[in-house]
Amino acid sequence: MTQSSDQAPAQDPARTVPAAQIEFRADDRQWIADRIQEVLSTGQLTLGQYGRSFEEKFAAFCGVKHAIAVNSGTASLEIALRALEVDGKDVLVPANTFFATAAAVIHAGGRPVLMDTDPENFGTSPEEIERRITPNTAGVVVVHIGGIVSGRMREIQALVERKGIWLVEDAAHGHGASFDGTSAGAFGAAGSFSFYPTKVMTSAEGGMITTNDDRIADEARIYRDQGKASFTQNAHTRLGYNWRMSEPHAIIGVRHLERLPEMVAARQRIAAIFDEGLKGLSGLSPLSVPEGGVCNYYKYIAVLPEALDRKALKTQLKEGYGVSLAGEVYEDPIQRQPIFAQYDDGSLKVSEDVCARHVCLPVFSTMTDGQAHQVIDALKRTLG
Ligand SMILES: Cc1ncc(COP(=O)(O)O)c(C=O)c1O
Repeated sequence: MTQSSDQAPAQDPARTVPAAQIEFRADDRQWIADRIQEVLSTGQLTLGQYGRSFEEKFAAFCGVKHAIAVNSGTASLEIALRALEVDGKDVLVPANTFFATAAAVIHAGGRPVLMDTDPENFGTSPEEIERRITPNTAGVVVVHIGGIVSGRMREIQALVERKGIWLVEDAAHGHGASFDGTSAGAFGAAGSFSFYPTKVMTSAEGGMITTNDDRIADEARIYRDQGKASFTQNAHTRLGYNWRMSEPHAIIGVRHLERLPEMVAARQRIAAIFDEGLKGLSGLSPLSVPEGGVCNYYKYIAVLPEALDRKALKTQLKEGYGVSLAGEVYEDPIQRQPIFAQYDDGSLKVSEDVCARHVCLPVFSTMTDGQAHQVIDALKRTLG
């Protein structure tokens, strides 16, 4: 950083760029409110027509046979893993991911085995998967970090098939992302999405399991409703939970799913401004999207030079230029979380490096071109 904040132009509070912003247009809010009135008056508040409609539309959007709506992305991961019977087995999970990816394996009775990070896309390479497979490995979970689907997904699919294990995608970052014509959530035995408010689309809270496998879909429906064999029967055949999605949540999700293509396009427009603007700036190297890939820009990830102090950079951008950077993906790898320290085998060096050495530029669907240029100007002034 070459310019201190006291050299920065005085900050105009009207020109701040927030780290994130959720978009619900006035007509969307009205549409949602009307339907919430309807379900309040009919009393059909859970497992109803809007949940089914959300599932059908989401399955069609991802190009899969089934989608099963649940009340969080954490639940959708655990359900997929339970349906795949991980109890007592090892599941490979990335070191660079959110807490829930590894925690869901433990909740489902499995043991997470951490994999190091592919610096190309912050996800996992086929070599790293292969190196960690043992006779006790049941399957592997990959995460499409920041909305980039690895350009090596076909190799990963072929590898898991050859080894006789399954692939689950934690696609919490992946709504609308794809590679080689296949959508995130459609590469493996099952996909898991989150609709938490910070995601590319939201249902306030919620999650979705995607699968082409009829058995996994049936199991997922059983697990999400207290392990009941069917909605009308009181026979509990699995150790399920209340993982149901309510109708008001499904209504919000249905409407946001309709907006998803345009919200992704808006994020891509901002990302193109960043790509262009960062060309002349040697201090920041954006991750690139593989050829044949579509990124939804859940995050715009850029790698920092080794000696640069991320915390100081973030403070300087915010205080000097009104630009808030988004949260990292991730600030610390899983093995640095106290609850997961026991899973650190000392070999996860790339994850520690990439977690410490990147930033996420703010990107959201309502961002103006002017705001995107403001971010670039602030970076240029700060990094020189
Ligand atoms: C990679 C990843 N996995 C799982 C989750 C969990 O999703 P949720 O917050 O909907 O439970 C999240 C989101 O927060 C996530 O980013």
